Amino acid sequence: MTAMFAGSAISTGKVDESFFYIVAISVVLLVSVTIVMVFFLFRYNRKKHPEPEAVREPLWLEIVWTVIPTILALSMFYFGWVNFEFIRTPPKNAMTVNVIGREWSWSFTYDNGKQSDVLRVPLNKPVKLILTSADVIHSLYIPAFRIKEDCVPGMKTYLWFNADEVGTYDIFCTEYCGVSHSHMLSKVIVMPAAEYYKWYSAEEVGGLAAEGKKLVQEKGCLGCHSTDGERKVGPTFKGLRDSIETVLTDGKERKVKVDDEYIKHYIEHPNVDVVKGYPPIMPVIPVTEGELKAIVEYLKTVK
Ligand code: CUA
Repeated sequence: MTAMFAGSAISTGKVDESFFYIVAISVVLLVSVTIVMVFFLFRYNRKKHPEPEAVREPLWLEIVWTVIPTILALSMFYFGWVNFEFIRTPPKNAMTVNVIGREWSWSFTYDNGKQSDVLRVPLNKPVKLILTSADVIHSLYIPAFRIKEDCVPGMKTYLWFNADEVGTYDIFCTEYCGVSHSHMLSKVIVMPAAEYYKWYSAEEVGGLAAEGKKLVQEKGCLGCHSTDGERKVGPTFKGLRDSIETVLTDGKERKVKVDDEYIKHYIEHPNVDVVKGYPPIMPVIPVTEGELKAIVEYLKTVK
């Protein structure tokens, strides 16, 4: 079809194919019936035929006008059915995204737990959306992909698509769901696969502190360091950041400020500058540069 109907997903072509096929047949039927009607208007005009005639129709003509429209109607059903089946059957290798509609926003959750309020998908990869609602009935509609399905509370419904053009496409809620229904909008962002997976595996901005918190739990730091001020084997994390501590460096006392540099240095080289009053027993815990950053971010939040 023309640019106006340009496809952006495989489903686009399937739906358009059925739609234009049915439109084309409808136009052919409309035009033929109209032409015959107008022709008869003149051919069997009352002035030419004042007396009505009893016409015995030929059998072959009856068969023709029964069989041809039957075949046309069944061919419309055939195209509609085949393409409907296609858009209702997600491929086995489809990646899944869970979608929750709520008054009045969309939220998309990916396999790794990542969440977003716009749907991001890789190019040329089948995507299955599993839909539900947190409150009333909504309906997810992506016009560019020609797909739409209700989001029903307490129930899971689905949609799938395979986007074949990079770009940003509208998502609408197409079920009246309350005063801000018309503002319940979002986007599908179709990205080249490499770009998508980079985004998919990247840490959330602003979630760095949360990542750090997870790390200090996983790496066992909390066995020796409390976060509530309690004295354990090592100093508490509470209020540690930016505090001035007395440390022993080579047996000599000196004062240090617990800033990013000190924290990083201490984690990488424990027991060089030991806080006075604590035993020099901290093990070397392997951390990457990124993990170190996250932990430093997290410690800023423990006040
Ligand atoms: Cu949600 Cu309309």
